[in-house]
Amino acid sequence: MAIRSLLARKSIADIVADADTPGHRVPKVLGAVSITAMGIGAIIGAGIFVLTGTVAALNTGPAIVLSFVLAAIACAFVGLCYAELSSLLPVAGSTYTYTYATQGELAAWVIGWDLIMEYAMGGAAVAVGWSGYFVSVLAALGVALPPRLTAATGQAVTLADGTTAAAIANLPAAAVVVLITVLLIGGTKESARLNNIMVAVKLTVVLAFIGLGAFYVQTANWQPFIPQNTGSFGSFGVSGVLRGASIVFFAYIGFDAVSNCAQEARRPQRDMPIGILGSLGVSTVLYVAVAGVLTGLVPYPQLNVPDPVALGVRVIGHEWFSLFIELGALIGLTTVILVLLYGQSRIFATMANDGLLPPVVGRLHPRLRTPWISQIAIGIVVAVVAAVAPIDVLGELVGVGTLFAFILVCTAVIYLRAIDPQVHRPFRVPYVPWVPLLGILSCLGLMSGLAPATWLRLLGWLLVGLVVYFTYSRHHSRLGAGK
Ligand code: ALA
Repeated sequence: MAIRSLLARKSIADIVADADTPGHRVPKVLGAVSITAMGIGAIIGAGIFVLTGTVAALNTGPAIVLSFVLAAIACAFVGLCYAELSSLLPVAGSTYTYTYATQGELAAWVIGWDLIMEYAMGGAAVAVGWSGYFVSVLAALGVALPPRLTAATGQAVTLADGTTAAAIANLPAAAVVVLITVLLIGGTKESARLNNIMVAVKLTVVLAFIGLGAFYVQTANWQPFIPQNTGSFGSFGVSGVLRGASIVFFAYIGFDAVSNCAQEARRPQRDMPIGILGSLGVSTVLYVAVAGVLTGLVPYPQLNVPDPVALGVRVIGHEWFSLFIELGALIGLTTVILVLLYGQSRIFATMANDGLLPPVVGRLHPRLRTPWISQIAIGIVVAVVAAVAPIDVLGELVGVGTLFAFILVCTAVIYLRAIDPQVHRPFRVPYVPWVPLLGILSCLGLMSGLAPATWLRLLGWLLVGLVVYFTYSRHHSRLGAGK
């Protein structure tokens, strides 16, 4: 087997030209505001609405704000790299495409396969968080769903009579995935429009929480700011802040999904950097503020609940406002699922166009111009995973898979600068190679905070991907066949 074909690279000119052939051309309908909103839509979700409470209660105490800052710094390095690559290569496919242009086909396949962890599993994780808020909104309205139908398969749930039983499946989580899939098949423009409205609602809710909550903060709750370590790594103290950063990193995932819009952007050179860095900046400020207010409202040991932000409002005695927060969270989580499922289908379509996946995956609907077949397949798989898997396992998998992809993106910037220094870069990362190197180091730092079992799952997943590559993709690659 020729090693050369594994390392075969697509040229930048080919990638850009290929995206513009009639069969692959998609309407350019997205502007900077829609793209930034897509970014915020993907970013603010289960991380802030669900994980903040758990991490403050178990790992960091009020110092969770430091964890948010640490994770944001890592993402900023990576975000700059994404901005350079997506303005240089304004095509769908994200990290996968960048890797194809730099490290070659095998590496591109590995990363495309790895991105399933981020996008599809991420969609499933957030759908599980959505289900938690959905159940509590219905409960507030006096409707009780059977607990065995609202949790991951096998999870212990408490029934109405006080006994415990094993859950069958999380049906609301599966249902929301199906609904969003239908919406996405309907068209990008329509989805983006609805997304803009939902993002506005989500932002209003988050800002209202910060604005109202700030008046009720009890500064005594911020003491001690970094609670003493309990003796085990990651349980408070400095190591707790580090472990917290690895977990809340999940909250920032999504700024990179913006790069999938590049092909549908009206002016990618300008809109992509604004979309990526703008959405990252806005969410960092909001996260630090929400985390600060929340830990000021509720003593951190009490925050380990499925709806911590709503709890913060309940504590100050505004029951109606807590319902408003829960509804906003529900809408907010919907937008995250939407952007992740959208991104997954576009990555698959790009891989299919390259011959690495069967052609049917990339086929656009004749009228709707969306990759409907892969969108349906993704919807079915994600719905099943969301129904059976618990959020903590999914969350860590998403984290490790995404960090791995981020490392390759930083590497791609350094590599492409070296091999293609003269190509026009509408946006340039400052201080290359230092900024991408800092990105790589900080991603490795965040990865080291995740459980060893998560690393093993990543390895197992990548091995399966290699089997698929060597049995199917390699033999159907368009680049390999010289097409
Ligand atoms: N950043 C996204 C969230 O927090 C994945 O839900």
